[in-house]
Amino acid sequence: MDIEKSIIKSKLDQINKKNSYRFHMPGHKGRGQAFALYDYDITEIPGADNLHDAQGIIAQAQQKLAAIYHSDEAAILVNGTTTGIHSAILGSCAPGAQLLVPINCHRAVFGALGLGRIEAVFITPEIDKNLGFGRSISVATVHQALAKHPPIAGMILTNPSYYGTTSDLAQIAEILHEQGKFLIVDEAHGAHLRFSENLPQDALSAGADVVIQSTHKILGSLTQSSLLHFQGSRIDRQKIKSYLSLLQSSSPSYPLMISVEEAVDAAHERGEAVFNMIEAAHREFCQNQNGQQAVTLYDGNGLANGYDRSKWLFQTRGITGTEVAARLSAEYGIQCEMSGDNYLLAMTGMGTSREDLVRITQAIGAINKTIRVDSTAEKEAKRHTQLWAGIDFTAAVQTEIPLWEALAWENRDQIVLEQAVGQLAGDFIIPYPPGIPVLLPGSRISPDMVVYLNDLLDQQVAVVGIDAKRTVTIIKKEPVIMEKNHQGQLIVIEGVDGSGKQTQTQLLYDRLVKAGEKVMKISYPRYDKKSSAMVKLYLEGAFGQDPGTISPYIASTFYAADRYASYKEDYEDFLTQGGLVLVDRYTTSNMVHQAGKIKDPDERKRFLDWLWDFEFNLYGLPIPDQVFFLNIPPEINQQLIKNRNNKITGQQQKDIHESSPEHLRDSYQSALALVAEYGWTEINCVKNNQLRSIESIHQEIWECIKERKSND
Ligand SMILES: Cc1ncc(COP(=O)(O)O)c(C=O)c1O
Repeated sequence: MDIEKSIIKSKLDQINKKNSYRFHMPGHKGRGQAFALYDYDITEIPGADNLHDAQGIIAQAQQKLAAIYHSDEAAILVNGTTTGIHSAILGSCAPGAQLLVPINCHRAVFGALGLGRIEAVFITPEIDKNLGFGRSISVATVHQALAKHPPIAGMILTNPSYYGTTSDLAQIAEILHEQGKFLIVDEAHGAHLRFSENLPQDALSAGADVVIQSTHKILGSLTQSSLLHFQGSRIDRQKIKSYLSLLQSSSPSYPLMISVEEAVDAAHERGEAVFNMIEAAHREFCQNQNGQQAVTLYDGNGLANGYDRSKWLFQTRGITGTEVAARLSAEYGIQCEMSGDNYLLAMTGMGTSREDLVRITQAIGAINKTIRVDSTAEKEAKRHTQLWAGIDFTAAVQTEIPLWEALAWENRDQIVLEQAVGQLAGDFIIPYPPGIPVLLPGSRISPDMVVYLNDLLDQQVAVVGIDAKRTVTIIKKEPVIMEKNHQGQLIVIEGVDGSGKQTQTQLLYDRLVKAGEKVMKISYPRYDKKSSAMVKLYLEGAFGQDPGTISPYIASTFYAADRYASYKEDYEDFLTQGGLVLVDRYTTSNMVHQAGKIKDPDERKRFLDWLWDFEFNLYGLPIPDQVFFLNIPPEINQQLIKNRNNKITGQQQKDIHESSPEHLRDSYQSALALVAEYGWTEINCVKNNQLRSIESIHQEIWECIKERKSND
């Protein structure tokens, strides 16, 4: 058998030959201080000290590094900032403690939450409206979260972001400290900030208690080497160090340690000159560009706390960022860090030269001359904004079972992304870069999220947690058992507005009658009965035009009262005598429409449990034997209900549910989750983007009913 030698190295040789201009990590750009790797790759022999109990040369180097960064103590890391983050969080939060976590944190933070059984209080960053990334954390948001959750022990915050944007660290640190809470800063992308006055403030000078820096990303150390700094006495250093010892390799690499020291030495000596040059070139680029060009440099204007101009983040119109990146590589030998449909990121670093900056400036100028920006390009740019604008990313990372239980869950399945809507994710789903999870193990997968992820994959963005066949891992959880509490049979036809419930109920009824079944049908709410008075007032907007502002508990009582009256007036005896009752909408509609108003998974669960108790125990309504959910996505459904008359008034004007796109979207998401949670029978009314015929949908329902009967 022929064994190919040096597979990795030879491929990298080819890549390096092609890319003369590196605008990606690490920061040395292939121009770091060379040293004979194997000479220095030793172990803890006498005189070489030991990273896990540093007392000699490693301790000495760490003291120097602390002095350069003005921290109280520094620890060299050989397993990246990832392990630094894990150790900092595990060492400062006991199991069950609450940590304030902006949702744009790196995956390492979420990993620590799972490992340490730590509860996150998630907050949403301010979003950049054009590019859709989390830009900064507002001081007011931190304030509010602390007021709402007094037990919070402290906060972790990424600063600067992967894109170079910043938050007001000094104020955030002050607020936290005033309340006796700590601040950990993930400064993975900020080890260079200390070295230039023209860059935003660094975390240590802003007062952070623990700061972790990937010295490899923008300074020049070898990949996987990082630094952790301690400042002050709010956190237990010893505990964090114990975790470092536990989580890092027991054979720490000397070449990695040397590279940290050398990178920081170099930055101390020359960092100011290098980063001032990069900063000035970035400013000049911004000054010389006009907003009409296809590729423009993001200049961070309007960021109160400054922008890190070492990140060259370009926005594109009329050409995709991925196409620009491909052209930069093919025509100019420039390799960027990352690209997507409407952006690309070029990262500079300690190894960046003036020639590199001239090269990228000229290359973008030349590409701009070849692209015309017209109204189509503008429209396309807007489409991107719309794609992510509909998603509530903070709700998306809430988990319905604790993260640590979801991580350890045994019963899992691997299914196609499209079919995973409504299911619980079984793994982290992380677009990479930048490595920020959009779903955690135990998060409910929404339809919007599936569209978003598919779009990222179409843009060739790597998404960790989704394989080449676009399948994902889901958690298999037994559905809630809807245990029968009555004689006879109750079958529900459920669906969002305009899904054809009425038609399907009628068809099924007719067929059952034909088959000689003792059957009756009811449609809820019973608009022609007095018992629906409160429902009508609610839907007409008497209690507010926005359904989201009306308590799901209160609204549920209106519908439930009508159902109780109907049970007593219409069908209690019929059911008790063994009849089959077909209902168009039921308690299940309260589950769909009212639970959809609640974003927090725990609160939603509390509501659903309350509703169950209220309708099935207190009112004693029969629990359905089977629920069919007619699945029509809101985009198609909204077209269908556009010209339909209001069921109460007979006029064109819509009721408050129908006229709220948010309500329709939320109730659809809620319904898909309920299908998975309660084991409802899902009938997909759309195939290949086409609405199926009424007859074929009916036939599918009929087959299910027949199967039910044969199993009885
Ligand atoms: C913001 C942020 N934090 C932490 C990390 C993890 O750093 P490392 O690769 O040094 O483990 C990264 C890496 O991409 C990052 O971007």
